[in-house]
Amino acid sequence: MSVVGARPNFMKAAPVMQALGKRKGWEQRLVHTDQHYDDKLSRVFFDELGLPKPDLHLGVRSGSHAGQTAEIMVRFEQVVLSERPSLVVVYGDVNSTLACALVCAKTGIPVAHVEAGLRSFDRTMPEEVNRTLTDHLADLLFTTEPSARPNLLREGIAEEKIFFVGNVMVDTLLRHRERARKTRFAQALELAPRSYGLLTLHRPSNVDAPETLAGILEAVQELAARLPIVFPCHPRTRRQLEGSRFESLLRSGSDGGMPEGRLMVTEPLGYLEFLSLMTDARLVLTDSGGIQEETTVLGVPCLTLRENTERPVTIEQGTNVLVGTSRRRILEAATRVLEGDLAAGRVPELWDGRATERIAAILEDRLLPRARMEQLPLHHQGATP
Ligand code: UD1
Repeated sequence: MSVVGARPNFMKAAPVMQALGKRKGWEQRLVHTDQHYDDKLSRVFFDELGLPKPDLHLGVRSGSHAGQTAEIMVRFEQVVLSERPSLVVVYGDVNSTLACALVCAKTGIPVAHVEAGLRSFDRTMPEEVNRTLTDHLADLLFTTEPSARPNLLREGIAEEKIFFVGNVMVDTLLRHRERARKTRFAQALELAPRSYGLLTLHRPSNVDAPETLAGILEAVQELAARLPIVFPCHPRTRRQLEGSRFESLLRSGSDGGMPEGRLMVTEPLGYLEFLSLMTDARLVLTDSGGIQEETTVLGVPCLTLRENTERPVTIEQGTNVLVGTSRRRILEAATRVLEGDLAAGRVPELWDGRATERIAAILEDRLLPRARMEQLPLHHQGATP
């Protein structure tokens, strides 16, 4: 049983489910918690990535962290008690990930965590709490980059549970790259390849604090005078911009073309449109985790608007630079990119499009022989994988 809830889960679950689907002996279920429910944050990814329709929707929408996490737990507990899956696979670090892993731990259902071991060492990030606790609840931990194993071992997690498999999101990216290219989305916005920047912002620490958000947007507006910037806007960020002195930005892209100020706000984009824009961008500014990895694979310079990252390989080997949120640092780093003064980077180990195959092989090796031998679902044996 795979569980998804929020946008960054969908591109991770799709290739894992497809890899298991190609092997014999697996019956799969997909549960959507509905943490993200807007079509633009959810449905479009199912359509584009070939994810099956969820077998079950939990219907838990936005709320406080406690309210949302608790409600997912209450509803998911009913699901696992009635379905008794042999294994639950959770992805990433969103509230749905932790809520469902915790339910499994309490009901004796084995859990696999895809994208385990990443650490920003910043406990003020909700995702850091989610991923750390999920790792401690999981029976199988699939890691994406070299930093993860020492992080997990330091926390006392048993070595035999940890498997370095590579990055499943890269599997999705490589698989859809050609289709994305064909959308020619930059051209639709009247932008030539490498002639524009791309911005995303949604972290609470950046967008919920008006001063910080204003500082970032001032720097971006200044940069936009030199390089047009496209800004697909997350609903959390949009809410903050409404009623602020930046509200007019929300109407900037509504006539379809590039506005005067050359900072164009759009609705959240689908996977293929966004991948197309990212591939052709001169530079990306973001506070997302996943985009730091995707730009590394694409070889596109990425300025991360945070003081830390849980994905250090994107800095050590990739195209990522941590610039924080100060106007001066953002503009300095952007100038360096525009002057061609940034290392090209290389693709990290095992980010080769085959991570999900490795996961499927490990799951098959660990789970299927026992289930077949005993002719019983694993949970009847009280087994952990
Ligand atoms: C969540 C994840 C974050 C991930 C991000 C990707 C957690 C703690 N955070 O953050 O790790 O990077 O998704 O987008 O799990 N909203 C809508 N429509 C929706 C969903 C949300 O309008 O379909 C609005 C609501 O006003 C909601 C706000 O966005 O209150 C925040 O949504 P939420 O799911 O709590 O967190 P994200 O900021 O999206």
